[in-house]
Amino acid sequence: MAKPRASFACQNCGALSQRWQGRCEACGEWNSIVEESAAAGIGAQAALGVRKGRVFHLSNLIEADQPTPPRILTGIGELDRVSGGGFVSGSVLLLGGEPGIGKSTLLIQACAALASAGRRVVYISGEEAVDQVRLRALRLGLGESPVELAAETSVEDIVATLSAGARPALVVIDSIQTMWTSLIESTPGTVSQVRGAAQALIRFAKTTGAAVILVGHVTKDGQIAGPRVVEHMVDAVLSFEGEGGRDLRLLRAVKNRFGATDEIGVFEMTGRGLAEVENPSALFLSARDLAAPGAAVFAGMEGSRPLLVEFQALVAQSSLGMPRRAVVGWDASRLAMIVAVLETHAGLKLSQYDIYLTVAGGLRVGEPAADLAAAAALISSLSNIALGADSVFFGEIGLSGAIRPVAHGLARLKEAAKLGFRRATIPQGPAERDGAPKDIATSKDLALRNCAHISDLVAEITVGRKARGREAPVDD
Ligand code: TYD
Ligand code: MG
Repeated sequence: MAKPRASFACQNCGALSQRWQGRCEACGEWNSIVEESAAAGIGAQAALGVRKGRVFHLSNLIEADQPTPPRILTGIGELDRVSGGGFVSGSVLLLGGEPGIGKSTLLIQACAALASAGRRVVYISGEEAVDQVRLRALRLGLGESPVELAAETSVEDIVATLSAGARPALVVIDSIQTMWTSLIESTPGTVSQVRGAAQALIRFAKTTGAAVILVGHVTKDGQIAGPRVVEHMVDAVLSFEGEGGRDLRLLRAVKNRFGATDEIGVFEMTGRGLAEVENPSALFLSARDLAAPGAAVFAGMEGSRPLLVEFQALVAQSSLGMPRRAVVGWDASRLAMIVAVLETHAGLKLSQYDIYLTVAGGLRVGEPAADLAAAAALISSLSNIALGADSVFFGEIGLSGAIRPVAHGLARLKEAAKLGFRRATIPQGPAERDGAPKDIATSKDLALRNCAHISDLVAEITVGRKARGREAPVDD
């Protein structure tokens, strides 16, 4: 038999090497290389005389008449929505976030809500003593909730204990980095331990039908520390993020086998734990300087929910040979494109200006629909004309300068009207296409102004300039 060429495999990326190394050359992961069976691979089993494959039953997609898996609703609306309508029984969810962001707080609140509703809920902490967890729950006013607690780190002990009693509806493991299994020799927190522990807990979830939530700390660069492999193994990955300086917390679905991944949940960290923010638009738009030039409100969508955020631009004369372009909360290449389109198709001279663009409130906007709001903010700052506090914008800008319709026009307009906006600058036609929004289009509450081309937007804003009689360096 030919000598196998490689017998060491990186457990992170799967790269093969001929000798053991502390660090994988392919992916750079430390301590992830493990010796695998020398004769592993297709055909190797026959050579070793291992058992032949068993013939199993293949079922059919059509005949599979599975009922949809039951959902476990915590009653914390923001959490239930991001998880895709509640946790799924028998599934495993990973909650990632930086240390101190509030993962344990969120989960103890979710556990308490479920336990108070009569479900069996177990919270296993590998980081804090039982008393510490209890003290926190007391501080949150959750002392009366019958959540079962333990401070344990051995996965075998945890699985044995949980299997002994009644099947829990929800098990929280805080955190997966502190767990270890005796099947693997390395120390807790290493790639192979985290993977082994996660595997055992996933098996427990699948066989018992309990929903399991694993907490994972992420490093500053946003990676779930230890192995990203856990992300591939679990059914859903939620990420809990905060914004420096404010008590705002965003919960996002990064992966979800049972729901959409574009939902976000918004919370506020208060003295009594995490409070749901049911109207995030109002929060993101609070503390606005209503008369300042350079600000434009974008009627955006986050998943199925409309969300209004403010784009702020500062266009300032540059003393540098290469003017500065800085973006926070939006795509830098998107800004470069908008600037190029404004120069080429609307005649604005931006090349000698430094340009700063931020999305207020620490939100990250990924939608192309934000183009129009970004452009409006830029034009407003350049021309020193405030856009009016009661205006919203949405629409995608093409390279030709054409403004294209975007999805969910009606939902965006309704949210704007609800929050008291009176004017919306939108692409030609989306409202009509969105299914009879005539009540909006004809309503006195929200005046719609359609822009077909970027030059229409410039004209619209500079009409305001003429009305106000202000000077501005806009070529029109
Ligand atoms: P925690 O849930 O322990 O974070 P993680 O589990 O993600 O590491 O949250 C800890 C932080 O939250 C801590 O800095 C204090 C703050 N906090 C509040 O502001 N209010 C509260 O009611 C609680 C429980 C925590
Ligand atoms: Mg914690």
